[in-house]
Amino acid sequence: MKRVVILISGRGSNMEALIAARDAGKLPVAIVAVISNRPDARGLETAARAGIASEALDHKTFAGRAAFDAALAECIDRYAPDLVVLAGFMRILGEDFVRHYEGRLLNIHPSLLPAFPGLHTHQRALEEGVRVHGCTVHFVTPALDHGPIILQAAVPVLDTDSEETLAARVLAQEHVIYPQAVRWFAEGRLQLLDGRVRVASAGDGTAVLIAPGGD
Ligand code: GRF
Repeated sequence: MKRVVILISGRGSNMEALIAARDAGKLPVAIVAVISNRPDARGLETAARAGIASEALDHKTFAGRAAFDAALAECIDRYAPDLVVLAGFMRILGEDFVRHYEGRLLNIHPSLLPAFPGLHTHQRALEEGVRVHGCTVHFVTPALDHGPIILQAAVPVLDTDSEETLAARVLAQEHVIYPQAVRWFAEGRLQLLDGRVRVASAGDGTAVLIAPGGD
């Protein structure tokens, strides 16, 4: 069974979705550790309650980005993971770190990349007046919120939306597509070809989910 380490910084609802999928028998992986760069991350308690090894590595206690990245990699590698999953991990990781985990480092981003990389994606989507918004699971490359796309889910943007209602609609889809993408990885169905992802036996368009309309 593939070994998975999850990195979080806060709430950890995507982590919870992965744990729930595992518990439901829908995600055949061993979640071997949850690591946070913030000692007060709410998700750490959730992980501990689920009986998963949880660790905090406070980035503020390191001299700089490179020192933190090196310590983080050392901490992760003690769990010998096949896959590292960024689930609301709010630190930019340096090129050495990313290269070390090339092909086994996933991220979820709350927009339909390549639109809206970076922060405040829902607010920016509303400001731009886009009619469709969503989320993306991708392999991580050294460029921020960039990398071969595995799976996306789209949701409608309603005239009545606030940042909060739109974020909630997107988050519900994050909780669907992240376990699905990790499952594909675990099943060995993801192939990287020329910087693009092929999902074995999903050439029929199942890799794009369109969420049902809002209220
Ligand atoms: C999610 O919207 C994720 O896409 C983004 O940060 C948020 C984290 O939420 N990167 P949670 O900690 O998983 O609840």
